[in-house]
Amino acid sequence: MNHLPVRKAVIPAAGLGTRFLPATKAMPKEMLPIVDTPTVQYIVEEAVKSGIEEILVITNSNKHCMENHFDKNYELEARLTESGKMQEVEMINDIAKMANIYYVRQKEPKGLGHAILCAKSFIGNEPFAILLGDDIVVNKKGDPALKQLIGAFEQKRASIVGVQTVPDSDVHKYGIVSPSLSTMPQGRLTKLCNMVEKPKTEDAPSNLAVLGRYVLTPAIFDYLESQTTGAGGEIQLTDAIKRLMDSQAVYAYDFEGVRYDAGDKFGFIKATIDFALDRPELQEALAAYIKKLAEEL
Ligand code: UTP
Repeated sequence: MNHLPVRKAVIPAAGLGTRFLPATKAMPKEMLPIVDTPTVQYIVEEAVKSGIEEILVITNSNKHCMENHFDKNYELEARLTESGKMQEVEMINDIAKMANIYYVRQKEPKGLGHAILCAKSFIGNEPFAILLGDDIVVNKKGDPALKQLIGAFEQKRASIVGVQTVPDSDVHKYGIVSPSLSTMPQGRLTKLCNMVEKPKTEDAPSNLAVLGRYVLTPAIFDYLESQTTGAGGEIQLTDAIKRLMDSQAVYAYDFEGVRYDAGDKFGFIKATIDFALDRPELQEALAAYIKKLAEEL
């Protein structure tokens, strides 16, 4: 296993999206568009740019439109062709060609750890990546976040969790890592001795929060299979990674890039504004609108 490259990724997208109701009553939150592109497409693009060849999306019975989005749509293609909209034809076809995407259903939303366990037979005995279905990371300065984590995995041949520093007031929202005191951090890489799910500010061992990107060894499945329910009555991936640390080294990698939690209303609005300000066709009008609003606030 140790010599194998990271070729496969899992995108868990079977959560209920309760923070985004009523939009998520019939529509998966991963399909909500940031400007004109569904969140999950940005995530698939990051995986592909990071060298991933095969992607497994964990879905549920409410998520057919995600499968349709990454498939061919012959009727739409024919209609667009008839009306001479060839650029649009190319755009929808490019989405269908983006990657080898497979789907498996999580029958009940028993938590992120349980969702990842649904990928066991797809992954087999290889190291693999996880990209959360509602976490978008943009790194204009260099490599995508996942590629940075894969680089760290290749250096250590050990599981890597992607982290960034969050303010004290936000530690209660995330899994927080505890750096090993006996091992000096090496640049952005830190060896871990523990992780705590959503601690109180005063109990947090650091300000390094786990933010939606992981590269794990397949040993995690042994721990997920025997993992009991944790915080929120769900099977937590964090709890299984903590147990993995008893038998294997686990590192945190402080990745470069701006991360948006698109499953949260405010995170979604920030992503929409930033992405729109990056679009040449929207930039000028949106900037003028924001300036006008700011004067009135
Ligand atoms: P979240 O906690 O952000 O998703 O899980 P959620 O449960 O849909 O959100 P709320 O709190 O109800 O609004 C992180 C990721 O794990 C997936 C989610 O789809 C999301 O991408 N997930 C979560 C599953 O696939 N299955 C689960 O049982 C839980």
